[in-house]
Amino acid sequence: MRVNQVAAGYCLLLAPSLAVARIDSELPSDYHGVPRETYGRQVFYDALPDPNLKQATQWLIGNPNRINLGRIGLTYKGATVSSSQITQPKQVLDLWNGIITSTFRINGKDVKVITQGDFEEDAVVFRVESDLLKRGDLGVELDFPYPPIHTTAYKYEVFAGVYDFPLNHTTSIGTNSKGSSASIKHQLQETSYFANLRWPGQTALELSRNDPGGSNSTTAHRYTLKPVSRKSSSIIFTAQFSPDQRNPSPPSIIQARNKLEWNKYWQEGGFVDVTASSNPNATELQRRIVTSQYHVRVNSAAKGQSPQESGLMNNGWYGKFHMEMVIWHNAHWATWGKQKYFDNIFPELYERLLPSSLARAKAMGWQGARWPKMTDPIYGINSPGDINGVLLWQQPHALYLANLAYQASPTRKTLQRWDRVVTETADYMASYAGLNASTGKYDLGPPSYGVTENTPPNSTRNLAYEIAYWSYGLDAAREWKRKLGQRVPDKWTHVAANLALPPQVDGLYAVYDGLNSSWWNDTKLNGDPRSLIMLQGILPDTPAVNPMIALATADKVAQVWTDDKIRGWGRPVLAINSARIGNPSRAMYHLTAYDYWKFDDAGFAIRGGDGGTPPPFMPGNAGFLYAVAYVVGGWSGSKGDAPGVPKGQGWIVKHEGLLKAL
Ligand SMILES: *[C@@H]1O[C@H](CO)[C@@H](O)[C@H](O)[C@H]1NC(C)=O
Ligand SMILES: *[C@@H]1O[C@H](CO)[C@@H](O)[C@H](O)[C@H]1NC(C)=O
Ligand SMILES: *[C@@H]1O[C@H](CO)[C@@H](O)[C@H](O)[C@H]1NC(C)=O
Ligand SMILES: *[C@@H]1O[C@H](CO)[C@@H](O)[C@H](O)[C@H]1NC(C)=O
Ligand SMILES: *[C@@H]1O[C@H](CO)[C@@H](O)[C@H](O)[C@H]1NC(C)=O
Ligand SMILES: *[C@@H]1O[C@H](CO)[C@@H](O)[C@H](O)[C@H]1NC(C)=O
Ligand SMILES: *[C@@H]1O[C@H](CO)[C@@H](O)[C@H](O)[C@H]1NC(C)=O
Repeated sequence: MRVNQVAAGYCLLLAPSLAVARIDSELPSDYHGVPRETYGRQVFYDALPDPNLKQATQWLIGNPNRINLGRIGLTYKGATVSSSQITQPKQVLDLWNGIITSTFRINGKDVKVITQGDFEEDAVVFRVESDLLKRGDLGVELDFPYPPIHTTAYKYEVFAGVYDFPLNHTTSIGTNSKGSSASIKHQLQETSYFANLRWPGQTALELSRNDPGGSNSTTAHRYTLKPVSRKSSSIIFTAQFSPDQRNPSPPSIIQARNKLEWNKYWQEGGFVDVTASSNPNATELQRRIVTSQYHVRVNSAAKGQSPQESGLMNNGWYGKFHMEMVIWHNAHWATWGKQKYFDNIFPELYERLLPSSLARAKAMGWQGARWPKMTDPIYGINSPGDINGVLLWQQPHALYLANLAYQASPTRKTLQRWDRVVTETADYMASYAGLNASTGKYDLGPPSYGVTENTPPNSTRNLAYEIAYWSYGLDAAREWKRKLGQRVPDKWTHVAANLALPPQVDGLYAVYDGLNSSWWNDTKLNGDPRSLIMLQGILPDTPAVNPMIALATADKVAQVWTDDKIRGWGRPVLAINSARIGNPSRAMYHLTAYDYWKFDDAGFAIRGGDGGTPPPFMPGNAGFLYAVAYVVGGWSGSKGDAPGVPKGQGWIVKHEGLLKAL
């Protein structure tokens, strides 16, 4: 399904006008950020919750948000088919052709539904086959939900819409509803869009509304699509969503072109084949490799934006994407040789957010572009949250991604394409670092939050990973300028040369400055010490990190960060680090820790941990792909074939078209 285009959001994002939204006595515009003392002055952070404006803060977290465009299902004898009426359900996904075939029985009669999405339009095609159609018992139902209410009651807004507010939105049959097409208009406050339907003349359908207009029932926005005659035991139609009323492509066209696009997708870029391995873990590894590639194509291959954590399936974290996660979501496109998908997202995503990020930095007294944390592609507002305002590690990502782009295409064109983003990112990073008068070094924070979001923000200074990443980033930006033949700004060089180093305690790296060795026993910190693992592997080589200390630190982390505690994208980061430090057995251990790191029957990675978010968790699938390419394809400076795959454990890994990671 060309859901990637849906993700691009022209009708999927509900975008209430900021000026008029009034929440009781508070207005979103009342929110002006929250002050925190930073390097000796008051700085207003635009993404910290304001305790005096709880409703406005919550509104800003929740808006704008994605909406569910519609629910399409079946009716039997005039009523929605319920799961209890279905027997012998079976669903097969043909990955090569992108076709889902569902078979089941209703009241003892066979029903087959074949579903295909489209790469060209925001459309899906359904073919329904059953003798129940000839009896007039089977129909198709379309229903249109309302977005959920944003309250502070939920940690995450996992939602597919609600049917409880029928009078707050309207639907109506469009004016083009005759012959081989029909449409339904859905209006929700300022947002409106059409569900455009089309079928072939031979199996004509008719659309009707179930309830009278203005109904105050949960079924108020239900419509039924039924065959005009009882001659055929099959029907087929296109359902397409767009801001305007239009005639979508006929089902047969979509069916044919979608299949070709999927075939093409599977043949482009790299591939990893472990099927010749005798290791019993190989089969599941291969399943995860193949299904993850399917899921990223469906859920993540957008234009100009990064996927949210739950892809296009539901609204985890209000359906917004997270700038600190863009590498986990999208870096795999580059190393799997599918650069076109990477280039569809970057640097456009940063360019879209540039004006608001320049303004943000300026308002806070810094230069360059301060990238937001959790945001949307329209307004670029930095969603408030306890973590959001002071998180650091999204800032250097643009430089890492620029290097990935340059590696794939080491040309002057790439250098120029990214130059603005590289420059504004580095300007911010150099200006944000604060000179510590007693050490003569540049510090990061306080306040600050690191990758693991488990340190006290008001006193956290010089997070190990973040300060090393700052150093890597400033070096990358300076190198960029040199390659372009441009002058390197003095400020970048000065700050890079004088940045504090990642803190150490007893010959090991520590999460942030000021800890003593007892931190290894602090359950809050040792429950997730991944930032130290990230110092080598995900972070490319940098003079700021001593490889021997990083190796000793990784081995120590392996003792305290036990299997039961690792979740989210922890396994990919561990596999990448293990490969980089020369421990391929450990790398493969993490990639195959199936007892702890579950993928569901459809191949969606499960996040694990504190719950609240159902699958998908796209950083799991996309991070897994990045790690697989890393251990198999290697990294900058790695030697030999499949450097992260252990020898002598029954692994035979064939691969093609992979690019080394940085
Ligand atoms: C629905 O509309 C009513 C009347 O305008 C309003 O009071 C209520 O808050 C709305 N409900 C939702 C969920 O938007
Ligand atoms: C709609 O139905 C709900 C639930 O039955 C009821 O609370 C509400 O007053 C009704 N609204 C109107 C306008 O009839
Ligand atoms: C400067 O660095 C020292 C040593 O790390 C630290 O104790 C001190 O708090 C820092 N000063 C400020 C203002 O953060
Ligand atoms: C950080 O400091 C601010 C201002 O003093 C305070 O309001 C806030 O509660 C502190 N945050 C934490 C997590 O301690
Ligand atoms: C080490 O740090 C812990 C936690 O901050 C503190 O309670 C303890 O006193 C420190 N130990 C020493 C020897 O400084
Ligand atoms: C951590 O706890 C263990 C067991 O209680 C103890 O043996 C060890 O010395 C402690 N380590 C540090 C660094 O405090
Ligand atoms: C399969 O993977 C698990 C988890 O990594 C590991 O413990 C086990 O040894 C592996 N089996 C083989 C035969 O390598």
